[in-house]
Amino acid sequence: MQPLLSLQRVSHQFDGHRVLTDVSLDVSRGQTVAVVGESGCGKTVLLKLIIALLTPSEGKIFFDGRNLNALPERELSRQRLRFGFLFQGAALFDSMNVFDNVAFGLREQRRPEREIADIVRDRLREVGLPENAVAKRPSEISGGMKKRVGLARALALDPEVMLYDEPTTGLDPIMTDVINELILQTRQRRPVTSIVVTHEMRTVHKVADRVVMLQPLSQVKPGENQILFDGTPLQLAEAADPRVRQFVAGEAGERAVAAAQG
Ligand SMILES: Nc1ncnc2c1ncn2[C@@H]1O[C@H](COP(=O)(O)OP(=O)(O)O)[C@@H](O)[C@H]1O
Ligand SMILES: [Mg+2]
Repeated sequence: MQPLLSLQRVSHQFDGHRVLTDVSLDVSRGQTVAVVGESGCGKTVLLKLIIALLTPSEGKIFFDGRNLNALPERELSRQRLRFGFLFQGAALFDSMNVFDNVAFGLREQRRPEREIADIVRDRLREVGLPENAVAKRPSEISGGMKKRVGLARALALDPEVMLYDEPTTGLDPIMTDVINELILQTRQRRPVTSIVVTHEMRTVHKVADRVVMLQPLSQVKPGENQILFDGTPLQLAEAADPRVRQFVAGEAGERAVAAAQG
């Protein structure tokens, strides 16, 4: 079967400074892929390339058989509606209350207000936000609540693909578990394909059926490409490559330190 998403020998550079080289990756419909790797290795850039917020310097990206970068802007905008994006830090509109944040995309589509109200309430319920939160501004709610609102907003348009950028970074362990559980439920409730960029092995094990590890370009050895590992979370935990082991152990170590520090 044709993959829903196909990155074919994708490279990217900013002003001559390479950040991704020769990344090929196929994602099947319904899969949940975690993308891990140390800070600065290009994970966020990869997500931005996937929704064509950035255009690859080389290579092609196909979504549902279409080369996104070859589409006219109008058609690209239409295709982007098939994606939901939970940005790092949730990226809510500070001047809008929770309701209006979640309603934003629906209003852009000029859906009737009654219908919008139903969808917003439904999605807020799905992510576990209390009714009385709708009138609050982002500055009046906690980091974990913001993530929930960001998720509700992303889900409002019934995306076929959900992209998560470090959904649990900066959250305490309890809120991390809550968000992991929500990501899991999100894909159990609907036939969504998900890509989850994360640092946390806990998130990988909880939500992903496949994990891809990127290495920083500076560490790519001759004959290798930037994907250091591609397999199941269990295979990642048992991988022999010392660089993979170091990453996995490092993550576990950081958690142990954080737990010890309370
Ligand atoms: N808009 C930009 N302009 C120039 N360099 C960028 C830009 N965005 C990201 N980079 C660089 O690309 C590399 C990968 O960044 P990023 O994808 O954000 O890493 P991460 O894996 O931590 O998400 C980093 O070296 C970063 O400094
Ligand atoms: Mg990032």
